[in-house]
Amino acid sequence: MLTREANERLTRVGPGTPMGTLLRRYWHPIAASVELEKQPVKKVRVLGEDLVLYRDRSGNLGLIDEPCPHRRVSMEDGIPEQEGLRCPYHGWLFNHEGRCLEQPAEPWNSTFKDRVFTKAYRAQELGGLVFAYLGPEPAPLLPRYDLLVWDNVVRHIGVSVVPCNWVQCMENSLDPVHVEYLHGKFMEYVWSRRGRTLPADGGVRMRHEKIAFDLFPYGMIKRRVVRGKSEEDDGWTVGHPVIFPNILRVGVGPCNYGFQYRTPIDDTHTYHVAYGVYRPGIPVSPQEFIPYYDIPMRTEDGQPNLEVILVQDYHAWMSQGPIAQRDKEHLGQTDIGVIMYRELLAEQTARVEQGQEPMGLIHDPGENECIALPQETMPYDVRLNSRLTPSYGGARWDGQEAKYSPIMDQVRELFAAADARTETGGLLPYPDSPRHPVGDRHRAVQLLAPG
Ligand code: FES
Ligand SMILES: [Fe+2]
Repeated sequence: MLTREANERLTRVGPGTPMGTLLRRYWHPIAASVELEKQPVKKVRVLGEDLVLYRDRSGNLGLIDEPCPHRRVSMEDGIPEQEGLRCPYHGWLFNHEGRCLEQPAEPWNSTFKDRVFTKAYRAQELGGLVFAYLGPEPAPLLPRYDLLVWDNVVRHIGVSVVPCNWVQCMENSLDPVHVEYLHGKFMEYVWSRRGRTLPADGGVRMRHEKIAFDLFPYGMIKRRVVRGKSEEDDGWTVGHPVIFPNILRVGVGPCNYGFQYRTPIDDTHTYHVAYGVYRPGIPVSPQEFIPYYDIPMRTEDGQPNLEVILVQDYHAWMSQGPIAQRDKEHLGQTDIGVIMYRELLAEQTARVEQGQEPMGLIHDPGENECIALPQETMPYDVRLNSRLTPSYGGARWDGQEAKYSPIMDQVRELFAAADARTETGGLLPYPDSPRHPVGDRHRAVQLLAPG
């Protein structure tokens, strides 16, 4: 448990708060690029700040304060110009650096515009997402994580706004054992209550024998031994990471991967991006646009959408309250990952307060060509047995959020084509996953007797 004061420090993200200051040192996704094709101006709220994201007619992105500095009309209704965004009320024009370029109605010889600025932040695109940086200069590089830059893959972006504090979402990612209940026994219960039978490969039926957590340069690695596996297997030797401070890596290599980004909208809302990547193992043409789709909290008949794994998580987080009361909780030994993550957040917050740089920032372009992250892999034959259809985190059954994606038919076709090629040989090689050794901040708990 934490004191109320520590909980405040852990969770609050607005300007000037300790955690808000730490989070402002990192890039965060705020939109899908394709959204700006339909509507070139999007109102966004990030870390408690109301902003507008726009693409001007030169194709450049801008991210500026939502109210116009003149008389506070919303720039959400602004007109994208060749350079910058023009306020709809009196036509003041602002560029992506926040400089005022024109004030059409002011006297012809006025120099007032040269003294008017609006708040402006950096925005950059990668892998179909628009990322924002709200921190001090010099900005670190926008990290080119493997899933964002690989070729021969298909991607999609599933988006939800979850009405709770971002730390609840993240703590869930350091809590491996919840999958046994929430996505196993609870899921079975929900399906049966709704008169449905969970498919044999639906839901999670693993038992954790041992869980462990390590630091690595980009965050924390989660390791586990599940019943039937050992410390020789990928789940332990490779694991998968939480990238500090707010990204979870999901999926099961070598075919199906994802990130879950948790961008704080404000203290009590989180922009959740389920970024899905499929690698069928055959050449894939680059997508013209990476599509995005909404992941609904409720089914069409108004019930909580609890048949879908990711939405089970959303509902668990939301039900903890807008900001979980950590002064009232009772942590067990299985919560060591949660505890370690909180300690890491506190430590990195203190570093920033002392004028030091927090972990994981990237400044070297050489390091940033493609940042390979650890990812446990399914044995190849398991993939073949599933007829190359991603069964976990994928497309085969309707307990996965990907069922809402507009491109799942295309994904199935690509895997069928890869399946056909398997018989004749010639699948593309899969990337090797880096392995990080067990480190000196390793923490482990043995949950079941070995064997
Ligand atoms: S309020 Fe924006 S130009 Fe006047
Ligand atoms: Fe979960």
